Amino acid sequence: SMHYLKDYRPWDFDLSETRMDVSIHESSVEVRTRLMLSRKADAGEKGPLFLHGEDLEILEISLDGRLLSPKEFLQDSRGLTLFDVPDAFSLFTRVRIFPDENTALEGLYRAGEMLCTQCEAEGFRKITFYPDRPDVMAPFRVRIEADKKRYPVLLSNGNPMERQDLDEGRHALVWEDPYPKPSYLFALVAGDLACLKDRFHTAEGLDVSLEIYTEHENADKCAHAMKSLKKAMHWDELVFGLSYDLSTYMIVATNDFNMGAMENKGLNIFNSRYVLAKPDTATDMDFEGIESVIAHEYFHNWTGNRVTVKNWFQLSLKEGLTVFRDQEFTSDMQSRSLKRIQDVRSLRARQFPEDAGPMAHPIRPEAYLEMNNFYTATVYDKGAEVIRMIHTIIGPESFRRGMDLYFKRHDGRAVTCEDFVAAMEDASGKDLSRFRLWYSQAGTPVLYASTELDKEKSILYLTLKQEVPDTPGQSGKKPMTLPVKTAFFTEKGEQAFLKFKGEKANAFLLVLESEEEIFAFEGASEGLVPSLLREFSAPVHLKTALGDKDLALLLAMDTDSFNRWEAGRILINRTLLGLMEDYREKRELHLPEALLAALGTVLENADRDPALAAEILSLPTEMELYHLLAAERIPVSPPEVHGVRNFLLDRIAFELKDLWERAFENFQTPGDYVFRPEDVARRKMKNLALFWLSRLPDTGFETVYRAWEKAHCMTDRMAALSLAVHFDDQRAEEMLDAFSRQFEKDALVMDKWFQVQALSRRPDTLKRVSELMAHPAFSMKNPNKVRALIGAFCSGNPFLFHQKDGSPYDFLARRVLELDSINPQVGSRMVSVFNPWKTFAEPWRSAMEKALKAIDSKKDLSPDIREVVGRALG
Ligand code: ARG
Ligand code: ZN
Repeated sequence: SMHYLKDYRPWDFDLSETRMDVSIHESSVEVRTRLMLSRKADAGEKGPLFLHGEDLEILEISLDGRLLSPKEFLQDSRGLTLFDVPDAFSLFTRVRIFPDENTALEGLYRAGEMLCTQCEAEGFRKITFYPDRPDVMAPFRVRIEADKKRYPVLLSNGNPMERQDLDEGRHALVWEDPYPKPSYLFALVAGDLACLKDRFHTAEGLDVSLEIYTEHENADKCAHAMKSLKKAMHWDELVFGLSYDLSTYMIVATNDFNMGAMENKGLNIFNSRYVLAKPDTATDMDFEGIESVIAHEYFHNWTGNRVTVKNWFQLSLKEGLTVFRDQEFTSDMQSRSLKRIQDVRSLRARQFPEDAGPMAHPIRPEAYLEMNNFYTATVYDKGAEVIRMIHTIIGPESFRRGMDLYFKRHDGRAVTCEDFVAAMEDASGKDLSRFRLWYSQAGTPVLYASTELDKEKSILYLTLKQEVPDTPGQSGKKPMTLPVKTAFFTEKGEQAFLKFKGEKANAFLLVLESEEEIFAFEGASEGLVPSLLREFSAPVHLKTALGDKDLALLLAMDTDSFNRWEAGRILINRTLLGLMEDYREKRELHLPEALLAALGTVLENADRDPALAAEILSLPTEMELYHLLAAERIPVSPPEVHGVRNFLLDRIAFELKDLWERAFENFQTPGDYVFRPEDVARRKMKNLALFWLSRLPDTGFETVYRAWEKAHCMTDRMAALSLAVHFDDQRAEEMLDAFSRQFEKDALVMDKWFQVQALSRRPDTLKRVSELMAHPAFSMKNPNKVRALIGAFCSGNPFLFHQKDGSPYDFLARRVLELDSINPQVGSRMVSVFNPWKTFAEPWRSAMEKALKAIDSKKDLSPDIREVVGRALG
């Protein structure tokens, strides 16, 4: 059933302690739970006790030591109701669960040889009867008992107590977590695992044992994760004054995981792709992902665990804030400007379309059918943008004071987004009342900017105007608070000093709070070019009337790297939109000289900042172009996008051939692989050059093949392999075979092998994808595999996915229906590929609608998939 924010009520009971005894047997697990409960003094009438519980086989229920007869409780699909309970009592339940049959990977499940848990958001109810809501917090004491040989390692949250050897080769270990926590932060792991250990000494003087657990064969791939963890712990002390608070911090890597990772108190559980890496098996991107996800989960210990959410509508309280924190961490570890460009690129690729589609919701949603559907780019990434805007508006010092105040007020509590904003407001003395609209209004605002010069008075007037679009269920919105970082450049590329509100400066923070406002700058001369929304200071669509010449100036001279990249982006997008119009009108296509010259200059000077150059010189993907068209309300026609983009790619590759060849040689990184920003940037430029060179007729494949032969690290190997797969050449098949022979035992590397094939531009790719589903290393039960093969084809290979006959749509619909009974969370992510169906031209639009209807017609669809499909069909 639907859940609404407006219906939130605190629970009627207090839970003072949770004791669990988890006994692991051959094919089932018995869970005994004792809860110390008392009715709150202010709870109204003496209602029944309800505990969540799903798929639990009841073995026993006792109250204050008295066994209850089945007449004294009611079990339904949602949980357990006890009609008559005293004001204070202890409740004991004993249930049986079957982790081996749990393919949804929620609750306690089998992951290869180990057992592990995933409880956020509402998985704990699949383990035991419980008030499975984040505002009920309790200290936990957990005893785990299992066969000693099969499960030598037994882990749960907090501190390990005495270990006991038992009869029949069994053993038991007790864990105590002194920090009261909600059930979603519970974790348990049992298995035969290797452990990498290290230590960290906190600023507060606590000696912490750091432990990373993996399957034995992966023990040599944990060093980077450990290094990242220590960096994150140090950074949080330095930047936020936050130290770790238990004597052990454990991370467990598993191949079977629905998402990225989970911040369970003291015992994080990770998708192995965000833990395991060595230069032979992981790419630069993998190394980056590990560093940031390890940090993200670690940062949750304060923003999420010590202070948690009152209800799931507040998810962005911890996720938006923690993403902001991990972004800042990565900015400090790698490159701030590069990180900003990548984050904005991903915001536009994932969040803007969500905000413009059927699933649009504010960062604090007001209703959900299935909470798992709201772990979205909006809650996470737009949520982080909202925190960033607060940081921008009140400034870094006030922000830090606000964080301190937030922890001072709320440590140990479950709170709301409002509590966070109030702390920031109180610490800064700034009124954030209008700003709060970011929490309740969905949709990406459109910001219009225009300038006018009063030559006589030398005043430049900048007009900013905003529109907040309607979204499903929300119309007639109010203007929002938009921080707009601004500077102006002279025709010579100098950053101009102007007088704004009586003060002379060369950079300005403008805050638009109304629908329209005019900002006046004194001392302006002719020809000033505005650089607006610097560092992408607000998550909006910016519309300006800058000419190509102005953009070329910003691309070359702006002191904000983000806006240099952005100027290049606008130039490229403008060209592509123009070419697509020519394509539709059946005019001949021409490559504009100005664009070629601008890109050529960037390439020639790539040495100055190879990472930035690589970002500027990576053309938008076809998917990014779909989004661009959709935002312009031009129906998406996949062949048109494909044709025009290929035209541009081939022309630029040809025209800049010599420069690309030089770049390919210049940016080699001889010697051993090291993961450090300079080398990552050089590899990026080199492999980008390889990409462009692969487009050259005749020599394309040869160049790729030579690069493959020379490759020493996985980054370079994948760069070559991912280009080779497009060619109809026997050697490409041999490369794939060699690769799979070498890595057949490495699940993560095999994910890459599936993925490159799914991304091939060869016309028979769907057939290949279907065949690969029968490969022994593939499984519909493993989310990484589903994402690598099916996800990659459906969302990373849009031209082949969007075929006129709709056959790939049928393929996806079938997979979604399969996943509906295997793993609804993964199924729901897959079906979301259809969300933008209304932005497509015919016949794609109707064909997607048909596929959605076919899915919708299945009886007993999981709430996960039902909610997404229902909203898509509107
Ligand atoms: N809290 C985790 C993180 O962001 C993610 C949990 C996602 N859970 C889910 N059911 N989708 O670090
Ligand atoms: Zn998180």
